Amino acid sequence: MKALDEIRILDMTHVQSGPTCTQLLGWFGADVIKVERPGVGDATRGQLRDIPDVDSLYFTMLNHNKRSITLNTKDETGKEIFTRLIQECDVMVENFAPGALDRMGFSWEKIQQINPRMIYASVKGFGPGPYSDCKVYENVAQCAGGSASTTGFLDGPPLVTGSQIGDSGTGLNLALGIVTALFQRETTGKGQRVLASMQDGVLNLCRVKLRDQQRLQRGPLTEYSQHSEQIEFGDTTPRAGNDSGGGQPGCILKCKGWEADPNAYTYFIAQAAAWKNICDVIGRPSWKEDSDFATPAVRLPRLGEVFKAIESWTMTKTKYEVMDICNPLDIPVGPILSMKELSEEPSLRDTGTIVSVEHPERGSYLTVGNPIKLSDSPSEVERSPLLGEHTDAILREVLGFGDEEIASARSAGAV
Ligand code: COA
Repeated sequence: MKALDEIRILDMTHVQSGPTCTQLLGWFGADVIKVERPGVGDATRGQLRDIPDVDSLYFTMLNHNKRSITLNTKDETGKEIFTRLIQECDVMVENFAPGALDRMGFSWEKIQQINPRMIYASVKGFGPGPYSDCKVYENVAQCAGGSASTTGFLDGPPLVTGSQIGDSGTGLNLALGIVTALFQRETTGKGQRVLASMQDGVLNLCRVKLRDQQRLQRGPLTEYSQHSEQIEFGDTTPRAGNDSGGGQPGCILKCKGWEADPNAYTYFIAQAAAWKNICDVIGRPSWKEDSDFATPAVRLPRLGEVFKAIESWTMTKTKYEVMDICNPLDIPVGPILSMKELSEEPSLRDTGTIVSVEHPERGSYLTVGNPIKLSDSPSEVERSPLLGEHTDAILREVLGFGDEEIASARSAGAV
């Protein structure tokens, strides 16, 4: 038994944001029916291919635990089949360009008429407003949501991050919206519309920067290294390099081997509560009582000097040694782990955070598993479907089609 065993999802998603949402629901046990255009499919099947004519890792890693049906939802027979699927499903998820489903003839009003219990969930780049018609990809959302303007170094251009906060982050928001709507449907008996905009999702994750925007009106952001470097603040939250976004100062510091290894670094948080231990570890015991260093307030303008001293210690240790020494002393540190190191980390395999999956055309590959662990709803990662692999099975099981109806849908070019 899995948490969403009884739930059937009509998955009209493509690329990344929508597929991450429906994959998550699939991991929790929902029956996810991915609808794809006959002969074409999700564009990511063919993007960034590493093996000719085989579904890309981009596609496979976003579409586990789903079944694929090909269906032309612009064709008359296809529309009839699509209408039947809407009747049989609990949730419809889509992340097409704004208005695409309306153009197909399936507005929210129409969907409600077909199935009043249907939850209709969408990802869009922007919410209602001047940009609501725009097509949006990950980096556009990072830029429009406040992430890029606050990421990078003070003397450099805005930067996008490798975390897909616009796509996968918004997919996560949408999944929460869907299960919340399912929960409310238990009481009301009615479906509802769920909208997650990528700009909203990124801005929501950047809330500490909006906090700092307001703090700026009352004075300098004293925990920013810019402050200890005596560089004046402007009127907008600046890029803060690797400074910590919280109340405890932090920095990325070199570790042993940094000259040759681009990831021989550690994040080091000079947490106030651990200050005495930090002084002992780095060989500056006198700083414990020194009136220039003893309290967080007097350290703030000297953070550059503090981190330089800590770095001269971390450079004598590997990032793993720093972790081993600091953790027992309650000093929060984090090694900079490469994708290679993460993919080889046994503990992540043990918990199912990284799993190896067997695919009939590409062999085995690594992917991320469900990052949310439920004690009573185990998640197994099942390979992504081939294009249209389950068309017949879905038409038979979900819609009760017989051989003749399937043959006629095929000859009409609808599936
Ligand atoms: N049968 C028939 N037609 C289908 C179909 C099917 N099964 N599935 C999709 N289509 C059609 C759509 O109806 C649409 O047609 P239309 O333009 O005539 O209305 C068309 O295929 C393509 O849709 P679109 O969403 O415009 O694709 P795109 O490749 O041009 O744009 C995005 C891609 C991601 C930019 C855009 O979908 C978007 O902005 N989505 C919302 C934000 C988002 O999720 N972005 C993150 C993506 S990771």
